[in-house]
Amino acid sequence: CGIVGYIGRREATPLLIQGLKRLEYRGYDSFGIATVGSDIDLFKKRGRISESESGAVTLHGSVGIGHTRWATHGEPNDVNAHPHTDCTGRLALVHNGVIENYIELKKQLLERGHTFRSETDTEVIVHLLEEQYTGDLLEAVRKTVPFLKGSYAILAVSAHDDRIVAARDASPLVLGIGDGELFAASDMTPLLEHTERIVFLEDGDIAEITPEGVQVYHEGEKVEREIELVNWCVEDAKKGGFAHFMLKEIFEQPQAFYETIRVGVDDAVRKVIRSAEEITLVACGTSYHTALIFKYLAEPLCNIPIRVELGSEFKYYPPPLRGLVIAVTQSGETADTMAALKMAKAHNCPTFAITNVQGSTVTRIADTTLMMRAGPEISVAATKSYIAQLAALMQIVNIRCDGAFDDMLAHAHLAIDEVLLQDMADAVALCRTAEHVFFVGRGPFYPVSLEGALKMKEISYIHAEGYAAGELKHGPFALLTPETPVVAVCPPGATYPVMVSNIKEMKARRAPIIALGVKGDSELEEIVDIFIPIPDTHPMVQVLTTSVVLQLLSYHTACALQCDIDKPRNLAKSVTVE
Ligand code: G6P
Repeated sequence: CGIVGYIGRREATPLLIQGLKRLEYRGYDSFGIATVGSDIDLFKKRGRISESESGAVTLHGSVGIGHTRWATHGEPNDVNAHPHTDCTGRLALVHNGVIENYIELKKQLLERGHTFRSETDTEVIVHLLEEQYTGDLLEAVRKTVPFLKGSYAILAVSAHDDRIVAARDASPLVLGIGDGELFAASDMTPLLEHTERIVFLEDGDIAEITPEGVQVYHEGEKVEREIELVNWCVEDAKKGGFAHFMLKEIFEQPQAFYETIRVGVDDAVRKVIRSAEEITLVACGTSYHTALIFKYLAEPLCNIPIRVELGSEFKYYPPPLRGLVIAVTQSGETADTMAALKMAKAHNCPTFAITNVQGSTVTRIADTTLMMRAGPEISVAATKSYIAQLAALMQIVNIRCDGAFDDMLAHAHLAIDEVLLQDMADAVALCRTAEHVFFVGRGPFYPVSLEGALKMKEISYIHAEGYAAGELKHGPFALLTPETPVVAVCPPGATYPVMVSNIKEMKARRAPIIALGVKGDSELEEIVDIFIPIPDTHPMVQVLTTSVVLQLLSYHTACALQCDIDKPRNLAKSVTVE
């Protein structure tokens, strides 16, 4: 979910709506806003804010809060949409996170006579607030948060009160400091067009926000939180003439890679990486795939054991907790990855973060952070953050190898550039009518295939599986038919001959093959149905170029099927619940 708040001299509604549109990638099944006057005015609705009629929301006032939802408790409908109000209608609240003890709290509140309207966990917070409220909203929030178990970023308002009170614990919340106005949001994207002066709240903070400024409290004491200048620019968060954010972000990949390499790493990062004797990476989704690629690249070159764990498994089935633990997370907020990193920290492992978002939660947990330089990524499906993660991870390999890959890394973006305009029409024609598509590769191209399949599933809704090429005959061969395309990632190298054998085996089962191979590989071109050439480069660079070609395949297939590319159904970009 995403939350926003505004307080100042301007009409809040258009600013809140604009902010929610920028946060829609965090969830988009319903939305709502509340503005403050002598009463609280409320508008909430199932569906997407971007598809709602412009001008539908006519609330007035210069103080307001808003929410765009990714449902956890209670189906997406008008009633479950935020903001939620108390029984008196004087208080309103938006929330991102999960209140784990809400059933118990709700039972107690019902016994004390509260009436609930929604099925959400959030509604308990506003009823608790009502019980604590005696005219001072700040005090009421202070007394309410100790009852809450779980994660929350909340913004609360009350009628007759020119303040927003914010609180966070384990869910992100940032403030934007304007001139006579203040903004609050789940992340920086909605703030960029108004200010570059950002305050990152810490877990346990409660903030009193007025048009003049913000006062933060922590454990009952007034504290100062630094105002940081952010380096993202508002144009980066706009579509800039592209049909979709995803396509724009695919095209920004040479720059994302180049910038991440160009900015480089500081001495602290260098020291930690050089001294590691064992590395465990934790990650989810696409970031898990970059971590797996790293393992394939780094283990033989750096001669250290590397483990890769899913964030969601780590906490409950931890591996031996020793050596350097690296969290790979573009958003820096994924709950499962955060839980894993906290656990590693509790066991005294040195912790390290690779992330794209300045000030994100992971940067606060980890001992050391390596920033990727992808800029804001809006499309739910990760593309440029994936490439920037690979840039960061390849830098780690390079540090361990005493700069052996300096030259390769400095030029890799040129190869990415070369594949961006690759004609995908024939491959798309084959995939768009398929019910199932397999993606296969070996070595680092196995996780490249996993990622190719994930992209296809996410945005085109075609069932896709990534497989280590040698494993296909241990089961999935049973599914091969002339209608089941197999995408084979087959660059030169040690596994090339065996990949070619695998392709022949699949052809013998009449599966159409789309192969990615280096330009001029006529042996491969002859045996496959569709050949997609990639530049003949260093093998590490081929990881990048083949990944980009697979992104383009999914993108163009999803376009052909008229899918909702930037906002695939049921998904959210930043999953802040376990
Ligand atoms: C969500 C997103 C994915 C992303 C994953 C991990 O599922 O839809 O694109 O890979 O979270 O996100 P992180 O921010 O931790 O990299």
